[in-house]
Amino acid sequence: MTQYCMVFILILFYSNSTRSQGDEVLMLPNVRTTFDDCHLRFHKLGTFGFVRPVFGQPARLKEFAHMGAIGWTQPNGNISWKCGGTLIWPNFVLTAAHCVIDSQNQAPDVVRFGDLNIETTEGDEYAQQLKIIDIFRHPQHRFISHYHDIALLKLEQNVTLTDVVSPACLWTDEEVRFKILEATGWGKTGYAENQTPILLKVALKPIENDECSKVYTNETDRKLRLGLQEHQICAVDKKMDTCEGDSGGPLQIKLMHNAKVTPFVVGITSFGTACGVSNPGVYTKIAPYHHWMVKTMQNNGAMVPDDVYNATFCALRFESLREYEDAIIISRSPHFVWVDMNRRHISLVDELPSYIVRLAWNGETNNCYGVIIDEDTVITLAQCVVHNRENVSHIHYLNNITMKVSRIHVHPKYEQGISYNNIAILRLQHFVTAYDFVNQYYGTDGYNFDPACLWQDETPSGKVHVHGSGRRDINRIFDSSDGSIDPSISILSPQVRFQNTSSCIIPKRYLPLLRNGLTNEHICTGQNLFLVPKSCDLVIGAAVYEDEYRPLYPMVYGLNFLGRDCGFGEHSIAIGMAHHAEWMKTILFSNYKESHDTVHFIDTDHQEGDSCHRHDGRAARCVPVSSCSSEWKQFMSNGTIELCATSSLVCCPSNDIAETQQNVIHPLLAGCPTLVKNLNISSPARSLVFIGWLTSEAMEFRCLGTIITKKIILTTASCVEDEIPTVVQISGKSETQKMYEVDALLVHYAFNATDDTNDIAMIRLRDTLVWSSVLFPSCLWTNTTHVPLVLSMISPDDTEDIGHTEMVAMYNSDCQRTHMYDIQDSQLCARKPFKNFTCNAMGDQLLFNSSSRVSYIIGLSTDFDKCKDSYYTVFTRISSFVHWIGMNI
Ligand SMILES: *[C@@H]1O[C@H](CO)[C@@H](O)[C@H](O)[C@H]1NC(C)=O
Ligand SMILES: *[C@@H]1O[C@H](CO)[C@@H](O)[C@H](O)[C@H]1NC(C)=O
Ligand SMILES: *[C@@H]1O[C@H](CO)[C@@H](O)[C@H](O)[C@H]1NC(C)=O
Ligand SMILES: *[C@@H]1O[C@H](CO)[C@@H](O)[C@H](O)[C@H]1NC(C)=O
Ligand SMILES: *[C@@H]1O[C@H](CO)[C@@H](O)[C@H](O)[C@H]1NC(C)=O
Ligand SMILES: *[C@@H]1O[C@H](CO)[C@@H](O)[C@H](O)[C@H]1NC(C)=O
Ligand SMILES: *[C@@H]1O[C@H](CO)[C@@H](O)[C@H](O)[C@H]1NC(C)=O
Ligand SMILES: *[C@@H]1O[C@H](CO)[C@@H](O)[C@H](O)[C@H]1NC(C)=O
Ligand SMILES: *[C@@H]1O[C@H](CO)[C@@H](O)[C@H](O)[C@H]1NC(C)=O
Repeated sequence: MTQYCMVFILILFYSNSTRSQGDEVLMLPNVRTTFDDCHLRFHKLGTFGFVRPVFGQPARLKEFAHMGAIGWTQPNGNISWKCGGTLIWPNFVLTAAHCVIDSQNQAPDVVRFGDLNIETTEGDEYAQQLKIIDIFRHPQHRFISHYHDIALLKLEQNVTLTDVVSPACLWTDEEVRFKILEATGWGKTGYAENQTPILLKVALKPIENDECSKVYTNETDRKLRLGLQEHQICAVDKKMDTCEGDSGGPLQIKLMHNAKVTPFVVGITSFGTACGVSNPGVYTKIAPYHHWMVKTMQNNGAMVPDDVYNATFCALRFESLREYEDAIIISRSPHFVWVDMNRRHISLVDELPSYIVRLAWNGETNNCYGVIIDEDTVITLAQCVVHNRENVSHIHYLNNITMKVSRIHVHPKYEQGISYNNIAILRLQHFVTAYDFVNQYYGTDGYNFDPACLWQDETPSGKVHVHGSGRRDINRIFDSSDGSIDPSISILSPQVRFQNTSSCIIPKRYLPLLRNGLTNEHICTGQNLFLVPKSCDLVIGAAVYEDEYRPLYPMVYGLNFLGRDCGFGEHSIAIGMAHHAEWMKTILFSNYKESHDTVHFIDTDHQEGDSCHRHDGRAARCVPVSSCSSEWKQFMSNGTIELCATSSLVCCPSNDIAETQQNVIHPLLAGCPTLVKNLNISSPARSLVFIGWLTSEAMEFRCLGTIITKKIILTTASCVEDEIPTVVQISGKSETQKMYEVDALLVHYAFNATDDTNDIAMIRLRDTLVWSSVLFPSCLWTNTTHVPLVLSMISPDDTEDIGHTEMVAMYNSDCQRTHMYDIQDSQLCARKPFKNFTCNAMGDQLLFNSSSRVSYIIGLSTDFDKCKDSYYTVFTRISSFVHWIGMNI
């Protein structure tokens, strides 16, 4: 065997990126209207990669490693092979009782293993042939009947365990839950009754004994005086054209574990009708004889423990000799298979991802979990909310952090104990990212908050994952070849598939919970492959998710609530998120319900400038509400307004827009992008100045301004505070570090120093700047409905130069949750992509550097003191002031 023990390792590299491809820029709308924006709200930058090995191993014969041929040595020395048997211990073979004598009343004397081709010498180097030294027929078996058709054969010595000769396990559960079983044998093929040269396998479908009894009765078969019994199983050939296996051979199922498969014997081929006829075969069921088998072996010299056929222990015992599961096999050659461990169905993971939280009731837990979808929001099953008559009080996450639940919303149509509308939303008292909590455990670096994102559309087809838990030993790979026992429980990541409602197989025990069957709020997932039982339990309330669809963001389709073995063999059921999106919006989006009552959303696809259709039929276009006096007046008088995509865009009658020419951008501002493109800029886009005041001692530079025209600098009102600066100094290399005298200052008339609304000011220079490739303006961002997601923040650094920080724009509604003042539409929040404190000094600039080298000014940071201790910065939103700026140029 040594030539097969080579292991091949191949390293695969994989990397992916969330950066936008090509020139496509990710844009964030001002107003949140969908759940399908997780990639924007929790945007992260960067790449990741991982490494996985690939193994090779020998292939042939392994599938039949437990299969023996039982032989009768003839006087001439030839052996006739008349029955099959199954190796179930190194020196015990299971067969049918009727196989222990042939028609000449002779007992068999040899068993041969590891030989596909029993009649030739081909492949014989792997074969092992052993003498039978003892035969144990079941004590209740009578040759005149088909009952208790089971026997054990003891071999002269142990077989040599190899990967082509090894024992099978036994299915000891009375419930035979499998939909397809397999029989093997060198059985006769077709009517000619010639022995086949090659070991065959055939797929069979178990059928109810009732149905089988129509064929086999005490009338048709005198060996069935009492008809078919409980300890007999019927199975019919799926294709109904080949034979059942050999008499005495196994009826089996391969169960998966450790990325391998182990055969479990469910029955022994007992009797059946002629080949080619679609009648079922009858098999002796193993489960009722399990104890007889163990006792018989124990009483006859085998040192087997009572739980020798416990599925877990049995599967582990010869784990190193088993075949790999099909899914990981990339290719086969006559002597090798190539496997890719990445494709395995179940992987061990160290812990649940941070977005899966455990529910707690004042210190107590049960087996209910939930999914974090936002810094302060967890979704879970309605059935999980109450435990021992108490409402859930806390969540545990990241193993040991505890956070209080402040509000619980259970779906109003949920009925206890019934599997419909089984969904609830928990609101948390603090953000899961709150530093008080996280720093305590993870230090000042915090951790990267990874929420789950909700899938809103129809359920896609294909592969997904669920969360499971199970014993480490029966699920590990790589280190498992010693088959050692490790009962510790580990988190599993089983890969399953979406199943149609029609192909969904639910274990019978769950049917009472689904009074009306499956509806379109349910998601059915699973695999047709069965696992070694009790090796994987679903984590209840955790997710059916995909984490490859959008790199870095797990996409949640549903919450698991029902199923065994993680949906393997029989499927599991989850509550679908998409189906409940509307209900979730009424709870999670502020004023969602109210706005639906009073506001008409004409067409949510319409953006600024698009034509739209009004209820009154007048020709109309989408414009910012400030540019539509008639709609504004109407809204103020009776609260009726017709909106386009967002609440800041109205469907304005064209006549009214003509009246209010406000949204026409000043030509100096409108021409900016073309101007800059033509300047052929070489240096990084820096159109920034330091604003300075001459004090008694020196020139004091307090904040930044942005050049927007040859004479105008934009900055914040909170920076200049009505005090006219003396000079502005152009930033950048020394040759351009020239100072310009300030002529006048204009602070926005509505600037409020308390909440920093309208925090904007303009400075006019005495001289006129001369554009060049190193001196050029920033252009104003004029889009009133969207801003680019990824921005650059410019701040003065310690060396009197400027520093860049990557920033991510946020919905105002998100920072409003913690902000102490009302955040207006004319303001904008942004944060660092990687958590932590991002408050910045006033006057810092938020820029977007377009691929055409034009830099746009998006925002100006407002008062630093007001964002202390928060993870975002509030900016003045430039697009709201384009008109004011234009008027005052
Ligand atoms: C014994 O087997 C050999 C080879 O399989 C065959 O040639 C021979 O005829 C057999 N002898 C008898 C008596 O069947
Ligand atoms: C036969 O195999 C069993 C199980 O591995 C072992 O316990 C027993 O010691 C072996 N017997 C001999 C004689 O090697
Ligand atoms: C067959 O079984 C039925 C009931 O199980 C019994 O009434 C009948 O006598 C049996 N027939 C024979 C031939 O034993
Ligand atoms: C096998 O034994 C283990 C440990 O006693 C037990 O947890 C498990 O449920 C058993 N497996 C089956 C299928 O009964
Ligand atoms: C919480 O878990 C972290 C990471 O597993 C660990 O470093 C820390 O010691 C734990 N703290 C407590 C109080 O258990
Ligand atoms: C996070 O912020 C704290 C101060 O609030 C700082 O000490 C720490 O270094 C920051 N960590 C990172 C990774 O920026
Ligand atoms: C604003 O940006 C969005 C998103 O890119 C776009 O669809 C819309 O047309 C833009 N509006 C204007 C007026 O350019
Ligand atoms: C609101 O007022 C406008 C006129 O100002 C009128 O045309 C419209 O019908 C009113 N809508 C409602 C619902 O009263
Ligand atoms: C300024 O803002 C604060 C807080 O929003 C508000 O209470 C106050 O009335 C505002 N002042 C003016 C003059 O609008």
